[in-house]
Amino acid sequence: MDIFAHRGISGHYPENTGAAFYAASKLPIAGIELDVHLTADGELVVIHDETIDRTSNGTGYVKDYTLQQLRAFDYGSWFSEEFAGENIPTLGEVLELFVGTHHVINIELKTDVFPYEGIESLVIKEIATHQMTERVIISSFNHESLQIVTQLAPYIEKAALFAEILTDFTTYTSLIPAKAIHVSLPAAFRKSVRRALEEGAVVRVYTVNDIEYAKNLQQIGVHAIFTDEPEKIVAALQD
Ligand code: G3P
Ligand code: MG
Repeated sequence: MDIFAHRGISGHYPENTGAAFYAASKLPIAGIELDVHLTADGELVVIHDETIDRTSNGTGYVKDYTLQQLRAFDYGSWFSEEFAGENIPTLGEVLELFVGTHHVINIELKTDVFPYEGIESLVIKEIATHQMTERVIISSFNHESLQIVTQLAPYIEKAALFAEILTDFTTYTSLIPAKAIHVSLPAAFRKSVRRALEEGAVVRVYTVNDIEYAKNLQQIGVHAIFTDEPEKIVAALQD
């Protein structure tokens, strides 16, 4: 079962920052996951929420700031003073950390609240610039966004994110089309997810920080998990 560092090593570093991704780039794990939003001046930035309130010392929507304005805030000290001065990275800056590594990069398009017109083509361009087409997965809770990716770059792997569980994943994802489903814990143990596995879906589960859950998911044949604590989970699965 593959291990993905969720928002970087977000259990020990401020999520979605250079520090969290740099640490992940040094780990022998399958990949990382990150979240992307669009600034007022059309830059792709890596941050989870629509606002900067929770993960910086500022307030307001990402979409209302230019990149330069966003850079004026501190994205580390909310987590620990040790990380004071961490900044908000662009997608390009994060990809740069993984040039020359083997890691798969799961780019989650955070288009579920604001659709960020044009974000899909900008992300595809950034992936091409870094020659990472073969090792990225684009995912989103907004499946319309994934359909746009299909139109623009059908060769890029896509994954449909689900907060809820469907009765028939295979039929639904054929409409996108997406090879993989990213489902939540503990919903991953539902019959319909097992059926999707039997029908050939790639199943990845978020966010798994509990060792027993990780072991159970490995047992049922889940392909990957997203975790904030990759080192702990890797060590436990090796026991
Ligand atoms: O991509 C998996 C997971 O990150 C989805 O939920 O809210 O952590 O972005 P969230
Ligand atoms: Mg995410």
